[in-house]
Amino acid sequence: MATSIRVASELDRDAVREVHLSAFTEAENQVVAMLAARLLSEQTHPETINLVAEMDGGIVGHIAFSPVTADADTNWLGYILAPLGVRPEYQRGGIASRLIESGMKRLSETGVDAVLVYGDPKFYGRLGFSAETAMGYRPPYALQYPFGWQAALLREQSSDTRAIEIACVEALRDPALW
Ligand SMILES: CC(C)(COP(=O)(O)OP(=O)(O)OC[C@H]1O[C@@H](n2cnc3c(N)ncnc32)[C@H](O)[C@@H]1OP(=O)(O)O)[C@@H](O)C(=O)NCCC(=O)NCCS
Repeated sequence: MATSIRVASELDRDAVREVHLSAFTEAENQVVAMLAARLLSEQTHPETINLVAEMDGGIVGHIAFSPVTADADTNWLGYILAPLGVRPEYQRGGIASRLIESGMKRLSETGVDAVLVYGDPKFYGRLGFSAETAMGYRPPYALQYPFGWQAALLREQSSDTRAIEIACVEALRDPALW
């Protein structure tokens, strides 16, 4: 059966938690599932985007994009992609790529400047993210894996080379996530 992508709501909380509990290793799955649940209910301005992928009558993947703001530039608006998970039995079928592309399309249509991510460069590099672009954005906490910090530009940036210090939503304000 074909995969469909739709906006998630708080009613999807249990299924979204299950996606991340099954996708991530035991060392991190509880923390990620809790983050996903919090991002489903956190009221942010602009809004956090939660998308789910459905297949075979159930939710098999989830992605969240939450807004990040810049310390010095009030006109700049970014989003951070986290978390992303696909149930193991549905992986390698393009579902994560579709969730990312669908979210990025929505964000580019609303004038968002850049999307940041903290994850495997082998995976995100194929989808337009790069560590070089991310050098323009300083994360709010020290990173355990600095090579995982990547960004994709959705709009042309000014030539200002100074790194922007970013602030993220409440659910991500936990050094253990970084
Ligand atoms: C990473 C993850 C979201 C990818 O989901 P997916 O639906 O399988 O992704 P796609 O099918 O769109 O993947 C496309 C490509 O990514 C790479 N890829 C996907 N899963 C991979 C894996 N487990 N290991 C290595 N490469 C992988 C492959 O190159 C794949 O292309 P291919 O199938 O042609 O080889 C999924 O494996 C997952 O949930 N993993 C556990 C949680 C996690 O690590 N989340 C990301 C946090 S940064």
